[in-house]
Amino acid sequence: VSSVYWLVFSGNCAYLCDQTCRRNFSSFAAKLTTMVGWVRSVRAQKANVFLHVNDGSSLQSLQVIASSELLTFGSAVEVTGILKKSPHQKQPVELDAKQINVVGECNPVDFPFKIKERHGLEYIRQFPHLRCRTNAFSSLLRIRSEATAAIHSYFKDNGFVEINTPIITSNDCEGAGELFQVEPSGPDHADGENFFSVPAYLTVSGQLHLEVVSGAFSKAYTFGPTFRAENSQSRRHLAEFYMVEAEISFTQSLEDLTKVMEDMFRFATEHVLAHCVEDVDLFHKHVTPGHRLKEYLMSFLRITYREAIDILRRSSERFAFPTDWGCDLKTEHEKYLVKHCGNIPVFVTDYPYDLKPFYARDNQDHPERTAAAVDLLVPGVGELCGGSLREERLNLLSARLEEAGLEDVYSWYLDLRRFGSVPHGGFGLGFERYLQCILGVDNIKDVIPFPRFSHSCLL
Ligand code: 4AD
Repeated sequence: VSSVYWLVFSGNCAYLCDQTCRRNFSSFAAKLTTMVGWVRSVRAQKANVFLHVNDGSSLQSLQVIASSELLTFGSAVEVTGILKKSPHQKQPVELDAKQINVVGECNPVDFPFKIKERHGLEYIRQFPHLRCRTNAFSSLLRIRSEATAAIHSYFKDNGFVEINTPIITSNDCEGAGELFQVEPSGPDHADGENFFSVPAYLTVSGQLHLEVVSGAFSKAYTFGPTFRAENSQSRRHLAEFYMVEAEISFTQSLEDLTKVMEDMFRFATEHVLAHCVEDVDLFHKHVTPGHRLKEYLMSFLRITYREAIDILRRSSERFAFPTDWGCDLKTEHEKYLVKHCGNIPVFVTDYPYDLKPFYARDNQDHPERTAAAVDLLVPGVGELCGGSLREERLNLLSARLEEAGLEDVYSWYLDLRRFGSVPHGGFGLGFERYLQCILGVDNIKDVIPFPRFSHSCLL
């Protein structure tokens, strides 16, 4: 055969795939077949050498029976041979090699990963350029890919339109000042010109652009990279992370938003459980033992910020940060609340108005004055989603912007309230934190292919 084929295992069946088709294994039996991949194990037994060759499409490797002992762990190979049914239950087929071409040799002495050794996530993180060659990280990347696909499916199935919001923007949506400024470089820009004529930044959130679109689309979403110049080395902060953001028009209740958040979480998690059985098993058994993904499929709880503060103040825990009305909930508070509620995801609603950005809708509930905002807190991570109803009333919004001195900067945003404004709301979910939560991964740097954080931009 002239083409290169990949082997795909599904249940007890093995399929050979080329670029365009998926055919049953039986039609390939006894024919010469070429496979490519990387050697994941080498075992000599009597006159034979048994290799496990993996091409990254799944955790499963194909057993290759060879006669040469010169093949090393980590090498890239192209093997031509005859596929035959394997006598072993676990692997439906094996490849009796007729010819092995070493495409790229791997020196096992210098290679940081050793055959038959299980390396922890912290160890493999030291090798960002090589870590996808480990089982743990390649499983993570496949799960990440499936979860991404599931989130797109969820929105598509539920009538949302995907919008590509810009990476470069002139607004600071969250108003927290954690921005990376964008400036041109190179000989053409040596005179320090202002390329965009206004200060431009990497986006911290696509929300305001989604709000523009939600003036014409009742359901819209975006899923892309966002950037925050947070000087944090914490286990849940990155300078570049992926955010899933949705905006829903004609909604007047936080319940509508929390329902979408919960449904999307459940849909994506069930999809990962159904489509990444072996990869999830690997995590459960060896990477984050004791963590069970299924546990995150129960109903979510809802409490108000007022109730959250009462729980924190009644507790005997000694918190480092204050727990008075009006104080922001810190990681220690979020983790305590989740534990107190039985280690299940918890929505906290109706935060003090002054804690939330200018766009959050005023509940007008004197004397406390809260905003129709919601955070979703989850086990192991704390805050996973932040959302709110948006202030759609022109008079209230312009008063708040004026107070903040932002009326001119956001005149276009006020226009949205002038021309066919509707009650609307939305939320953002931190995708890496979602993966941390479902897989029980302690450090956010271990769930993204190339982590960026303060003092680190490797590769
Ligand atoms: O709560 P945040 O700041 O909400 C917004 O940006 C809204 N404008 C979203 C919207 O309503 N469309 O961020 C949303 C989520 C957080 O709950 C958290 O999970 C994640 O983004 N996040 C981070 N993840 C990793 N590293 C960081 N530095 C993060 N900052 C926020």
